[in-house]
Amino acid sequence: MSEHEIIGDIGKFKAPATDPVKNQGGTHAYFSCWDMHSYYGESYIVQGVNFDIREGEILALLGRNGAGKTSTLRSIARTDTPEMQHGEIWLDHQPIHNMKSYQAAQNGIALVPEDRRIIPGLTVEESLDLAQIAPPIGWTKERIYEHFPRLAERRAQEAVTLSGGEQQMLAVARALARDIKLLLLDEPYEGLAPVIVQEIERILESIRELGMTTVIVEQNAVAALKLSDRAVILDMGKVVFDGTAQEVLDNNELREEYLAI
Ligand SMILES: Nc1ncnc2c1ncn2[C@@H]1O[C@H](COP(=O)(O)OP(=O)(O)OP(=O)(O)O)[C@@H](O)[C@H]1O
Ligand SMILES: [Mg+2]
Repeated sequence: MSEHEIIGDIGKFKAPATDPVKNQGGTHAYFSCWDMHSYYGESYIVQGVNFDIREGEILALLGRNGAGKTSTLRSIARTDTPEMQHGEIWLDHQPIHNMKSYQAAQNGIALVPEDRRIIPGLTVEESLDLAQIAPPIGWTKERIYEHFPRLAERRAQEAVTLSGGEQQMLAVARALARDIKLLLLDEPYEGLAPVIVQEIERILESIRELGMTTVIVEQNAVAALKLSDRAVILDMGKVVFDGTAQEVLDNNELREEYLAI
């Protein structure tokens, strides 16, 4: 399949004539998704989503419950459900759209799902070892423990017994233990007490300083926007806003209409 051939039903859609990586303010996008359409069975959920991200940017992907945020992240990570029937995904000049999820992962896409997927029976350290079982390896364990001292203290503890906040730290640490190019965080603050949210926020700030290109999905839109350069708002599976994070923070109407805050 050629690089520009698109998957699925191409009947009424047209592939772009050239590399779809758009030119944004003179800088090439590092990541772009173009006209993604995804389904759960007959259920048409992601309805033509487009956005792009420059290297090192943090993008907040926002919207009400059921807007399609998780489905969009899963489409990008190439999970089997929802099934992406049409669209293109590019990361660092690589086409991702025809890949399976394990190939997308090998090519640098790391999805940290809402449920954090802590593996029972493994300690913190074993969980990190497992993430590094095969190349490409990212941060060393030493570096991870330096950035996540709570994990260092608990390295011998069984990971399922960690607190919610610590489990979130481990989920992010496991992603960084691999050599990744795009970090997709689905509701990293979900179910965490405000004080723990602040701790995770500090970790995300340090990830930001390290220049990790990141998409953050969050119900706590203000917290996500404070960390983000840009924002995309989804509503019923479509992009209804694409702009700077500051524009969303400044625009009460937009927030009331699509974010209920
Ligand atoms: N496995 C599934 N099968 C069928 N429909 C699904 C499935 N998962 C999600 N959906 C539907 O897809 C729509 C979008 O769901 P999605 O989880 O992407 O929303 P979301 O924006 O992440 O919402 P939330 O903020 O509640 O996490 C919803 O209407 C949901 O019911
Ligand atoms: Mg969700």
